[in-house]
Formats: sequence, C-alpha cells, structure tokens
Amino acid sequence: MKKSWITPEIRRKAQRILSGLSLEQKAGQMTQYDWGFNPINPDTGLSQRDMICEQIAQGLVGSVFNLAGAEEANRLQQLAVDNDGDGHGVPLLIGRDVIHGYRTVFPIPLAQASAWNPALAGATAAAASREALADGVAWVFAPMIDVSRDPRWGRIAESIGEDPLLASAYAEAWVNGSQVGSDNGDGNGSSPEVASCPKHYAGYGLAEAGRDYNTVDLSDRVLREVILPPFRKAVEAGALTIMASFNEVNGIPACANRYLLTTILREEWGFEGVVASDYNALQELITHGVAADEEEACLLSLRAGTDVDMASGIYIRHLPRLVREGKVPESLVDEAVLRILALKLKLGLFERPYVSPSEYATDSSLPAEHIALARQAARESIVLLHNEGDVLPLSKTTSSIAVIGPLADSFKDPLGCWAFDGRPDDVVSVLEGVRQAAASTAVVSYAKGCEVDGVSGSGWEESELAVALEVAGKADVIVLALGETFEMSGEARSRTNLDLPGGQRRLVEAVAQLGKPIVAVLLTGRPLAIPWLQDYADAIVQAWHLGVQSGHGIADVLFGDYNPSGRLTVTFPLNVGQVPIYYYRKKTGRPPGGVYTSYYLDSSTDPLYPFGFGLSYTSFHYGEIRCVNPQAALGESFDLSVEVSNTGSREGEEVVQIYIRDEAASVTQPLKKLVGFRKVKLGAGESIVVAFTLGADALAILDADMNVTVEPGDFTVWIGPSSAEGESVRLTVEAPAQ
Ligand code: NOJ
Repeated sequence: MKKSWITPEIRRKAQRILSGLSLEQKAGQMTQYDWGFNPINPDTGLSQRDMICEQIAQGLVGSVFNLAGAEEANRLQQLAVDNDGDGHGVPLLIGRDVIHGYRTVFPIPLAQASAWNPALAGATAAAASREALADGVAWVFAPMIDVSRDPRWGRIAESIGEDPLLASAYAEAWVNGSQVGSDNGDGNGSSPEVASCPKHYAGYGLAEAGRDYNTVDLSDRVLREVILPPFRKAVEAGALTIMASFNEVNGIPACANRYLLTTILREEWGFEGVVASDYNALQELITHGVAADEEEACLLSLRAGTDVDMASGIYIRHLPRLVREGKVPESLVDEAVLRILALKLKLGLFERPYVSPSEYATDSSLPAEHIALARQAARESIVLLHNEGDVLPLSKTTSSIAVIGPLADSFKDPLGCWAFDGRPDDVVSVLEGVRQAAASTAVVSYAKGCEVDGVSGSGWEESELAVALEVAGKADVIVLALGETFEMSGEARSRTNLDLPGGQRRLVEAVAQLGKPIVAVLLTGRPLAIPWLQDYADAIVQAWHLGVQSGHGIADVLFGDYNPSGRLTVTFPLNVGQVPIYYYRKKTGRPPGGVYTSYYLDSSTDPLYPFGFGLSYTSFHYGEIRCVNPQAALGESFDLSVEVSNTGSREGEEVVQIYIRDEAASVTQPLKKLVGFRKVKLGAGESIVVAFTLGADALAILDADMNVTVEPGDFTVWIGPSSAEGESVRLTVEAPAQ
C-alpha cells in the first residue's frame, strides 16, 4: 500500500486554511471555470471573464482552465493570492487539456500506444507537463484511459486502444510521467508540481453505436474486468485527481454515481485525491433527466463524491444555501475542500503561485530535446500493415518520388485532435520529410490530387486529379498521403463510414492505373475499414496523426532509417458492420461450423488486421515455448520462456506478446487475454530468450460474486507476434488435495 500523500503536515495546513474560509469560499474552491468561454451576461452586461475575475478576488473560485499562457496565469493568480479583501489568498489551480503534448505536439495517444512503449509515452507526458507548467498549468486533464473498441467513436484517437492490460501499463507510465516535479528528498521520489487527471471514469468509451456522449450500458462484470483496471493502476501509480465521465453507469451519470466515485474509488481503492466532473456535467444531470433542477444536481453530485464542478457553476450558486438550509451537512463540503486544499499544498502552489515564463513558453522554437523525443515517438508509433514485394524500404537512390494526396502537404492535420497549443509552423509534413530525407538523391514532386473530404466530380477535383496523374506518371515510386483531417477524430467527432473520406478512393484507383509502385501512408485518428486498399497499394503504412515530427518519422520508416516496430492496439475491421470488433471476445456457446453458428451471411468475422499486428523490415522466428512447471499447484506461478530470433538481414524490434485462455472457468472467459508483452531489439541473426512469469494477476478471474480468484484447471497460453498468431502451450493449475 502506497504511503498517503496527505501527510499529517499537509492535513494540518489544509485544515487551518479551511477553517478560515466562509461557506461561499468553500464552494468557490469546488468551482472551476472555463476561461476560454466568454459570453456576455445580458442582465449585468459583464463578460464571463469579468465575472470570473471578480469572483477570484473574493476567493470564490478554486480553479480555471483554458488560459492562454504564463502572463494570463500570473495575472489571475495575483487576483487570487494578493487580494487584500476577504479572499484568503488561496492560489488557483490552473488546468488544461494537455493530452498529447503542449507546445511540442506528440503523436495522438492511439499512435503512442502502437509503440507498445509505455516508458516513451511517460517521457512525452513529462515533456508536455514541463512545457505546460511553464505557463502556469498545474493540472493536466490526462491520461485518457478509456478502453475503446469502436472506431466510429472519434475519441478512440485519444485512447490507448481496446485492451485493459495495455491501457493499464500506459496509465501507470503516463501518470508517473505527467506528474513532473522536483525531488523533495523525503525518499518518496519526486514531489509533483503537476497533477494528472486520468479520465473518463468510467465507461465513456462504450458509447452505444460509437456516437459520442451516447448512452452506455455496462454490466458490473465488464466494468470491473475491462474498464476499471487502467483506472485502478492510475490510482496505484499516485494519480492526484480523476475525472468523472459524462456517461451513465447503471442508469446514473458518473458525477452523481456514488458507487463509482465513493464505493469503488475511495472505499475499495483508497483514492485520496480530488474528483472533478467533466465539462458542465452537473448541469447535464438535468439534461440526462436524473435531476429536476440545479439544486438536485448539486446535492446528487456532492453526495456521490464529486469535489470539483467543472464549468457549470452549480456548486457556487447552490451549495452554501443548501448547507444553511440543512439539506446537506457542511462536513461533506469540508471533506471535499480539504482534499482540494491538500492538493494545492502538495503541488507547492502556496509557495510558488507564479511562473516565470521559461524558454518553453516564450521561445518561438521548440526545445531540441523535445523535438528529438517527438521524432522518436512518431517513428515508433507507425505500424507497417502491408508490404508486398518488399517495396519498402524505399531506396534513397530512387531517382524520382511523387508525393501525392490531400494530406501530403498538410501542416495542421498531423497535429491531431488535441493540439490547442501546437503550431502548424512547427510541423514537418510528409512532403517535407520525404524531401529532406531524399534531397540529395531523388527528385521529389508533389500534387494534392483531391481534398480530404471534397466532393468527387467537382471541376476543381477533376483538374487536381489530372495534375496528380501527370506528376505521378513521371515518378518511379508514388507515395500517397491519405486519411482524415484533425477534425475528423476527437471529441464529438463520430463517423458511421470508416472508409477514406471524399474522393480519396478515386484518387487511389486512378493513380494505380499508372502501374507504378504505390506506398499508401494513412494519417488518421482511428482505424479505417479499407480492405480494398491492398488491391492498389504495394505497401500500407499506418501513420496516424503523429504531431510535429510527423514527416520525419514517416520518412525514417519509408527509407528504412528506422525499422517499423509499431503494433496495432485496436482491431481494424473489414467493414463497419463488424463493429465493435476486438480480440478480447468471448467464445459464445455455438460450436463453429454449420448454419447455426455465430457468423455473417455477407462478411467474414475476421478483422482486416488483428490486435497486436504489425510488420517489420526483418523477420522474427519464435521457438517452442518452454515451461519448467506446466502443472502447478494453486497459488504457484508458471515460468515460461521462448527464444525469439531475428532471421532477417537488418536490426529490428519485436513486440513479444503473451495471451492466456482459461479453458473452463465458473464464469465465461475471453478466448484470449493479453497478460504481458516485451519489446525487444535484435540485431540481424541475433536471438534472445524472453521470459514471462504468470502468477495470480494473469490467471485470476472474477467469479460469480466478483471475487478475484484463481480456479484450478487448464489454461492455454500463446506467445507470439500478434493476437492472431503464436506458439501455444497447455498449463494446468492443480486442484488442492482433498
Ligand atoms: C470535455 C472532455 O470530455 C474532457 O476530456 C475535457 O478534459 C474537458 N471537456 C475539458 O476540456
């Protein structure tokens, strides 16, 4: 059990401050405003910002978010801290959506997940937090750890993908990385100056039909087996705050859901930090229809365990009166405020409320070490999906390369869905990346070909297509940069069509008529269902939205300066009708074969590309799985190992994945469940023995009463390069002697 971060000293100080606050000021600490939303109040004629400033000066605001830099942060902080009225000088906690970078924009989380390198994601999160902190941001609304299994849902881009174990590994690394701070020398490691905010707790990724904000119907079993593990890991890693999701769980929206926020989070897991609502979610309790009015929304949220009201203003408008009327005990308010004050003390905001703008915030160029990190993250995020005839890597002596497509010269789209603070000027486009990599040897030409989402057949598109065909016709190799704009994924960006938008398919088909080698590079925020592309493209490179170093990362892979090592963390469907499709599925009772089996009349049930899949420029061979104790007593672990060899002619990285199936358990189990992975680098001809220990964590199930338990019986274990391949072995947990 981790030591409590609310030390007796922090508690004492927080209590002292708390005792000096009026009821209004306590509700103020629980109130967070969106500085970016600034309507004029028709009654008072005051803008929202004027109102926020007035309230800050009276100590009636605990937190703000969406500020634009250090100067503004210091100005508001001064109002909070230096007021000589009755504000009591409690500093503001300044928040921001720092999701995949701040000034330096890194690959979208779904891309970073494809690297199967949590430590690297921890490093990008730390770099982002450092940049944000220089602008006064001490609270990042990240990581997003919703297990996501529906590519129609635009927020899949922000997620780690479909698997709870992988999401848990990233949750831990991301929380540790983002909570940057100084070492306070107390033996507890670093003392964070930034709080992370894992979100969205819980089940937001299961929105029905992939439509953002839609209803979620979630059994306690799926909640506990699939959705909660990453959050629990985040809490164990020391996340200081958590964000309740918009959606309902078992009929009760998260910010009013006492079972989620108190029973599980605080009582079962011992979470001591601050719970924030999502944006305006208290108000939305009325829209959901579980609260009749603001007063009821206020009471439900407080009683459930929501400490901070993001954006609605309901706590500050109603809480003091409700306490005075005896409708809610002041002690509940005090508990929440104590946590908020403790957090501010922990982050050192009382000692250091102001920031002196550093090089991150003021310089027009990004820090060199962050650029290098962005390039590493970009190239590790790329997944090679198809490479017929080894068309990749391209030779740098290819004399002419045509870079064609609506995303080839885009500087905005590679920034991805959450890039408030990133600048297109900092982005290296695909075209630039290819040009710089091949500058001395090849002629690199360019044509747009079509818009990302244009109207096929318009006069403009016709002439663009003609130009593209002419340019491509003169080249030896064609690189097609295709995909989605940054606005097609992220919040409120659901799609029902998972094909390439607009006239892009037509572009591909027309260019293919030229009979030249084609490399398709996909810049997307989600998996697309495009099986037809393999018929036209010799190679397919899944490049996502990779951030500022996008073009360099892509060129590194295209020319083989980096051997692709990314593996999918979401299943790519063959068609939309298969969605949701994910590897971690149950068996069903139907035996395979025959008419009355679980299948489609008009489609395969297999995906286009499975979870865990990705190619390399080298090849890997897996030896037999060795297990010293294939029969183990209950309570013992299995020690397994496999020899992995690089049988190709160049160095490469392999993601060795281990999956398990409990063959017969008291509760149905998934066909395969990822229980571990290791990313290893092997030189040409080199071999390595990769070892795994499978203990209770891997073997346990949740029984009918939701107890974590290991049941005796047989298990099948696979070790291999994806969820669809691998050597297997049978293991047995022996029943104890009677
Ligand atoms: C709503 C989003 O769901 C959440 O992820 C984000 O942190 C807040 N808005 C604040 O922008």
